[in-house]
Amino acid sequence: FITWSLTLFFLLLLPLSGPFITPASRSFLSKTTQNIKNLLVLTVATKQTEGFQRFRRSAQFFNYKVQVLGLDEEWQGGDDQQPAGGGQKVRLLKSALKQYVDKEDLIILFVESYDVLFASGPTELLKKFKQAKSKVVFSAENYIYPDRKLEAKYPRVRDGKRFLGSGGFIGYAPNLKKLVEEWKGQDNDSDQLFYTSIFLDPEKRESINISLDHRSRIFQNLNGALDEIVLKFENSQVRARNLLYDTLPVVIHGNGPTKLQLNYLGNYIPQIWTFETGCTVCDEGLRSLTGFKALPMILIGIFIEQPTPFLSQFFLRLRNLHYPKQRIQLFIHNHVSEVEEHGKEYLTVKVIGPEDEMENAEARNLGMDLCRKDPDCDYYFSLDAEVVLKNTETLRILIEQNKLVIAPLVSRHEKLWSNFWGALSPDGYYARSEDYVDIVQRITVSAYNLSKFLISRVEIKLKAHRSKNEPLVFLSVLQGVFMYLTNRHQFGHILSLENYQTSHLHNDLWQIFSNPEDWREKYIHENYTAALKGKLIEMPCPDVYWFPIFTDTACDELVEEMEHYGQWSTGDNTDSRIQGGYENVPTIDIHMNQIGFEREWYKFLLDYIAPITEKLYPGYYTKTQFELAFVVRYKPDEQPSLMPHHDASTFTINIALNRVGIDYEGGGCRFLRYNCSIRAPRKGWTLMHPGRLTHYHEGLPTTKGTRYIAVSFLDP
Ligand SMILES: *[C@@H]1O[C@H](CO)[C@@H](O)[C@H](O)[C@H]1NC(C)=O
Ligand SMILES: *[C@@H]1O[C@H](CO)[C@@H](O)[C@H](O)[C@H]1NC(C)=O
Ligand SMILES: *[C@@H]1O[C@H](CO)[C@@H](O)[C@H](O)[C@H]1NC(C)=O
Ligand SMILES: *[C@@H]1O[C@H](CO)[C@@H](O)[C@H](O)[C@H]1NC(C)=O
Ligand SMILES: *[C@@H]1O[C@H](CO)[C@@H](O)[C@H](O)[C@H]1NC(C)=O
Repeated sequence: FITWSLTLFFLLLLPLSGPFITPASRSFLSKTTQNIKNLLVLTVATKQTEGFQRFRRSAQFFNYKVQVLGLDEEWQGGDDQQPAGGGQKVRLLKSALKQYVDKEDLIILFVESYDVLFASGPTELLKKFKQAKSKVVFSAENYIYPDRKLEAKYPRVRDGKRFLGSGGFIGYAPNLKKLVEEWKGQDNDSDQLFYTSIFLDPEKRESINISLDHRSRIFQNLNGALDEIVLKFENSQVRARNLLYDTLPVVIHGNGPTKLQLNYLGNYIPQIWTFETGCTVCDEGLRSLTGFKALPMILIGIFIEQPTPFLSQFFLRLRNLHYPKQRIQLFIHNHVSEVEEHGKEYLTVKVIGPEDEMENAEARNLGMDLCRKDPDCDYYFSLDAEVVLKNTETLRILIEQNKLVIAPLVSRHEKLWSNFWGALSPDGYYARSEDYVDIVQRITVSAYNLSKFLISRVEIKLKAHRSKNEPLVFLSVLQGVFMYLTNRHQFGHILSLENYQTSHLHNDLWQIFSNPEDWREKYIHENYTAALKGKLIEMPCPDVYWFPIFTDTACDELVEEMEHYGQWSTGDNTDSRIQGGYENVPTIDIHMNQIGFEREWYKFLLDYIAPITEKLYPGYYTKTQFELAFVVRYKPDEQPSLMPHHDASTFTINIALNRVGIDYEGGGCRFLRYNCSIRAPRKGWTLMHPGRLTHYHEGLPTTKGTRYIAVSFLDP
């Protein structure tokens, strides 16, 4: 269901010279130091791995006081793959606790470090610990480990996780001392088994006063629990929420095979991320950018490699990007047809048109080279024309992430189809990763480390096609550079290029099925939504409703399409369409079916007119079947007016397609029974009135210029 083409949808931003973002101020580290007096975090780390550094950043962020045990000591405690191990941690804890024997009130949190993150601060931790009403609280797990035979000895629990997890516990120093007193094991013995056996001894459990954090109020072990967790976003803060127990855990532990998920989580938590990227949550970061004398210079490479709908919208959005045009250079590779109007405000514009006969790959290399060779060019941003970049802050947001290469996530509307491959299958093709759906649907928000995926993808693609046309440039640029994808903001989507007919004058009109959202944006009046809510609807004559429906562009393109087709009916009674049993009032017109626009027009009526009729005529549900739908042309020297008549319809819509006083004079519509006229039709607005019986009406004479209206008879 997914076919991926490398040439599409890949956006990247690459700083080509030094960093432009000064590291964010770290002054917020010196926050208040309340609460931390009685709390100490003990952890074991023999090496300062990246995981450890992340742990330390998160602890610093929340102002935990941390003592690291075993640094630079050789690790003897086994690894994750072994069934047991970890005894070294108990030994280190036991000896560390000696210095705190007399500290009755000291509360110690013991946690792993390589795969642990804090999600909240000491105040919340202490509150929850005290609420637990035990002197020692261990994290709890769904899985029993390492000895399943012990299950029967575990106390039953009504609700929550039943088994002890040694990756995190918190308790008063004297109680913890008592807990580890008996340790005589080897470094490679199991710490988990040691703590479990104490907990399962009812006497010791009571005397040391140990309980488990069954409902993950403090500790969230991710192993076997990924389904319980969602990310909750509030005021640019992210918290992992346990949905099963409705808790907000304080300590997140990526135990077992959940390291990757923890990595994502590390990226989700902006506070932590911030340290890495030098941008404070990135709203603040945005402000920091404005401190530059001149914003970084960006070269935007634009690639129109195949017929693409809504190109004028594309260039309009480009113009609307919130970034000074004088700091943007454009490089446009248009492989398709005439170059669209792209605006003249940019610093420079270079266009490679179809006549230059340059292949896609060559053009992409050229675009990037232009930036690379220009000492003033700071960033290169590659943008394919089918990407609908709606977020006007995109450039700033991406720069603020301060990564070497980063792409914004964009996907097809309501489809799981994006510029991102969740994983690769063993044969190197697309495979859906477990979290792909979440990422694409933006349930989770993160910066995604893509390096592996993208590099492999390029290699595979080259192998599969043995084509010289694939852009090699990504490979060379990517060597050793991590690529990121961010879905921390909503950026936009990708157009569907399937079924794009190019045989019409205005092909976009036919896109109502393939790209309905973009169609709506281009063609439906901005105030239609208000009309749908019952606002802005006028009633100029009894039972005649009047509301905005089309944009000027829709009106213009429809008229131009009709004139382009050109075969207007003669307007006399011999016209067979008119004689087919309908009212005998022939007009100069072209019907929608003549330009192959019937299905699309029907869809338009169904999507945009039917909801309004249901609103205005309560209890009336139309299927918007239409017998006739056509554009009428009125001219003084052709057919200036229409004699009084009934429409052969349940109701009629009549959309004004051009502007009175500018395009024509006169015109309008008069309802005879009510002696009521609409003499100043508004372009893009439709009249909607009952057809048969009541609304006998006439088309008033057009005295100058040409007037166009789009008429549909709807039945029933
Ligand atoms: C633990 O270490 C001891 C000595 O260091 C060794 O004899 C023993 O085989 C190890 N046990 C395991 C399970 O690796
Ligand atoms: C721990 O001590 C409290 C009273 O201090 C008691 O209510 C609780 O039951 C004890 N818990 C265990 C597991 O012994
Ligand atoms: C990104 O992925 C690469 C390759 O898998 C890895 O070496 C690197 O540590 C990752 N970087 C981060 C920040 O996770
Ligand atoms: C939409 O309605 C608002 C408020 O009535 C008006 O200011 C605006 O001009 C309207 N837009 C168009 C395109 O007519
Ligand atoms: C119709 O209305 C016009 C003014 O709006 C008035 O002059 C005329 O007399 C009316 N005709 C009838 C038949 O009521």
